[in-house]
Amino acid sequence: MDSVAAERLALSLLAWYDRHARALPWRAVGGRRPDPYHVWLSEVMLQQTTVAAVIPYFRDFLGRWPTVTALAAAAQEDVLAAWAGLGYYARARNLHKCAQLVAEWRGGRFPEDEAGLRGLPGVGDYTAAAIAAIAYDRPAVVVDGNVERVMARLFAVAEPLPAVKPRLKELAAGLSPERRAGDYAQAVMDLGATLCTPRKPACGLCPWRADCRALALGLTEDLPARMRKAARPTRYGLAFWTVRSDGAVLLRRRPEKGLLGGMLEVPSTCWRDDVPWSMDEALAGAPAPGKWRPLPGVVGHTFTHFHLNLTIAAGRLAKPESAPGLWCPPERLAEQGLPTVMRKVIRHALAKA
Ligand code: ADE
Repeated sequence: MDSVAAERLALSLLAWYDRHARALPWRAVGGRRPDPYHVWLSEVMLQQTTVAAVIPYFRDFLGRWPTVTALAAAAQEDVLAAWAGLGYYARARNLHKCAQLVAEWRGGRFPEDEAGLRGLPGVGDYTAAAIAAIAYDRPAVVVDGNVERVMARLFAVAEPLPAVKPRLKELAAGLSPERRAGDYAQAVMDLGATLCTPRKPACGLCPWRADCRALALGLTEDLPARMRKAARPTRYGLAFWTVRSDGAVLLRRRPEKGLLGGMLEVPSTCWRDDVPWSMDEALAGAPAPGKWRPLPGVVGHTFTHFHLNLTIAAGRLAKPESAPGLWCPPERLAEQGLPTVMRKVIRHALAKA
């Protein structure tokens, strides 16, 4: 596409954005620049999570920690607990590390260019470009899943994702304007989120409809094409639900490294691939000696790379005082920042035990 056509498209999208931008709590209105802390926090939260899911977390974080310096000074477990439910807990730890780095080494100011931003923990290519464009109006090319879909349709790119990503990024770069880079980046993402949706796109309302090759060819719903994903494997484990005579429940902190690292859990065996455990084998993984009985049903939870089926064994410990972990009174379970899978385990155990 020549540069005149590219500029015409950028301008028509910006005009659309001026009327239809979503009101989001991290956006500034009236041509003002948003707070870089707000932009960074929202973009890290938005990695792999929807805008609707992020909004209450974003508000809660700003209420607790109004500045990056305040977040840096927080205890890591408070940050992890406030993050609970957003998933991918390594991101919460990186978020906290990044805040400390920016607060201690940079006086609370984020780097303004992509290269500097990319050096921060938890900030990859996408997030660095998004912060540079949105917070500092640098002409960075911001490409997320929404932008890929819009480009694949506008240019009728038939090759499948993920191999075609570099080509889609080139096409996006060819359209990104020098001026109003932050508004433009958010405009393409809003277009993808509100009109150019995966299914039933609202092409009649699209400012790019006259130029969209997929629309002209009747291919909008077929693009972008995707390689079929390998099926998710299933893993199996047994969780141990034990309640002390005063009603307190045994929890334990997971190791720092690995999935749900550093989060609290209902103690469980490791999660083994493909073959369910025999009950005897699984019971050998109990946190402490006791009498256990399996509860009916299983708790299912889908992570990015596998599906987990957890069976729950309920029991009393022979010596609760020597159990490894911490005893949590039942009325305080809700405030422990337990990951979603463990909230499901607790709900199941309370219903069946
Ligand atoms: N998705 C991720 N970041 C976004 C933003 N700043 N605006 C709209 N959608 C987004």
